[in-house]
Amino acid sequence: MFNKLRVDLPIPPEYKYERVNGVYLTDVWDDIRELTSGYFAGDEAIRDAKGNRVHTQQSPIALLLRIILVSTMPGDTVLDPFSGTGVTLVVAYQLGRNSIGVEIDPDYVRIIASRLNDFRHADDIMKYYNYYRHTKNLKEIWRTDKASVIVEEKQMELF
Ligand SMILES: C[S@@+](CC[C@H](N)C(=O)[O-])C[C@H]1O[C@@H](n2cnc3c(N)ncnc32)[C@H](O)[C@@H]1O
Repeated sequence: MFNKLRVDLPIPPEYKYERVNGVYLTDVWDDIRELTSGYFAGDEAIRDAKGNRVHTQQSPIALLLRIILVSTMPGDTVLDPFSGTGVTLVVAYQLGRNSIGVEIDPDYVRIIASRLNDFRHADDIMKYYNYYRHTKNLKEIWRTDKASVIVEEKQMELF
């Protein structure tokens, strides 16, 4: 399975022409930042009560979103045998994919369980939808019902 994604990369300052329908994704994904220490990690990094990162190798939501979008369809099953903080499972759920995660460290397993049960806005994949809007089969590979339900449920809790 290989879905040809189109992304709305920013136009370089010296570029002469407007881009009307994005560009095909290449095999160099330099538009996704790692969750480094410091403020770049933002809200997405899971931290303990003292503000320290709980897992220094936590992958960005944007990365797993792209991997799952490019290589699977709704209803497929994704396996992450080294789940860490469970980013693969959190993204797979929102995209309507089944997922199986394996993690050896019980502390991380607890983090995964709480991340799946207590949805965080920082994990919401919908903020990236617009970026992929020029992808031909986007509606087929990214069904938004699951993601919207999660966000709405969480918003209800907030009110
Ligand atoms: C690079 S981290 C994965 C990070 C993950 N992608 C995330 O975003 O949080 C690798 C994980 O594999 C786990 N691990 C290492 N050996 C393992 C094994 N034999 N079975 C299951 N998990 C293992 C580690 O505890 C660690 O959390």
